[in-house]
Amino acid sequence: MSKRFEEKREAFEILNKELSDLIPLEQRVQKKDKSPHVVDPHAHLPNDPSKSDATGAVPKEWLDEQAALHEKYKLVERVYKFYRNIIQNMSSSIICMDMAGHITFLNANAAKTLEYQVEELLGHPMTDIVAEPGRESKIIDRMLIGNKRFESKEVGLIAKSGAVLPIGFSTAPLIENHEQIGVIITFRDLTEMNLMRKQVERMDRLATLGELATGIAHEVRNPLGGIKTAAQVLEESFEDNDRRLELVSRIVREIDRVNHLLTDFFKFAKPVKPTRDHFDVESLIDGVYLLLAAQMNSKKIRFKEDFSSTLPKVYADPHQTEQVLMNIILNAVQAMPQGGDIIVRTYTTTVGESKSMIHHTDEFFDKNIPFVAIEISDTGVGIPQENIEKIFNPFYTTKPDGMGLGLSICNRLLTENNGNLHVESAVGKGTKFVIMLPTR
Ligand SMILES: Nc1ncnc2c1ncn2[C@@H]1O[C@H](COP(=O)(O)OP(=O)(O)OP(=O)(O)O)[C@@H](O)[C@H]1O
Ligand SMILES: [Mg+2]
Repeated sequence: MSKRFEEKREAFEILNKELSDLIPLEQRVQKKDKSPHVVDPHAHLPNDPSKSDATGAVPKEWLDEQAALHEKYKLVERVYKFYRNIIQNMSSSIICMDMAGHITFLNANAAKTLEYQVEELLGHPMTDIVAEPGRESKIIDRMLIGNKRFESKEVGLIAKSGAVLPIGFSTAPLIENHEQIGVIITFRDLTEMNLMRKQVERMDRLATLGELATGIAHEVRNPLGGIKTAAQVLEESFEDNDRRLELVSRIVREIDRVNHLLTDFFKFAKPVKPTRDHFDVESLIDGVYLLLAAQMNSKKIRFKEDFSSTLPKVYADPHQTEQVLMNIILNAVQAMPQGGDIIVRTYTTTVGESKSMIHHTDEFFDKNIPFVAIEISDTGVGIPQENIEKIFNPFYTTKPDGMGLGLSICNRLLTENNGNLHVESAVGKGTKFVIMLPTR
């Protein structure tokens, strides 16, 4: 860091301290007889003997001057605090840089978003925190072009943890005495908004899929009905020992199978509205385990439960919740062809506590509603980072006989139930799905 910026940083730090800290609130001038002579001039002047009269008291003009000065200080202090509070309390993040591209100021929200202490960034080149490999200087240079403004642009910034945050920003020139001395960058962290956008896109795709499926199911089912009736009539017209009878009944059986498939798909793609009720999620998990126990045993999969002893009931559709648990636990089983462990843990949390929560309904903005979290961890193959985003997409599958609908349906069902689904995974180590369900 150059000397110039060290100086700037010091100047900033001084400015940032409360003015009232810098100036003693009250200065007592003692008379010769030691009785206090309160003058309260926020001034740094000590009791100056040359200004004392014979009795040791301070002359009136001097006191008046000090009092006037004090009034001015108070005014400056008020104005300063007013502006400082606006800047520090606003929900947008602000960073200022000088014409050399060094950070000269950041507000509390900017520091919080980037996970730094203010002092850690002051004086540093802005390029240090821009996550656009090879383009950092170009981006900063363009921001510094005289009088040029950017509106709602996007860029990646690097937080202290190394995480790259998608940022939406605008810039404005910082002018002092008719001269541009830097640039003001206001920005917002778009992480949550991007998640929401993805969720909406996904829902959109599912909705389209649902409509499509309904249409197809309808169109295919009608002729199927006709074929089936015709086949049954044909069946009746044959003698009991006619060899063709077997072929016709096979036609009927196959039609039934297709019908079944369509019904299943229909159910998947267009789930019914939830019928919500209060219920105990742990007995539901036990139920799903019983259904899958034989399969787990044959694959040498151990199933462990780590349930909270004080778990409240959830408020959701029990059948839909069961469907979600079934899909996710089945995925875990399928991810461990050589065996392993499935651990189901339950605990209580709130939206505020859970970083992974996406606020997709109004109810989510009440950060105090307790949620039940169900963590399903496996020690299976894991999911490569680049595929994590895709697993919730309809028809995304890596399995030869998979439909790729399980997780997209889970996601949709949980959204309908004001719940949430979150995943963490490491290739070769395993995967953890966290289901969140509201308690009211
Ligand atoms: N626990 C897990 N471990 C590893 N990969 C997983 C896990 N759960 C899901 N996946 C990955 O996500 C993909 C999508 O899962 P999803 O349940 O939506 O579909 P599927 O299981 O492939 O098919 P379907 O559930 O429709 O039969 C899977 O194919 C798999 O690649
Ligand atoms: Mg599945």
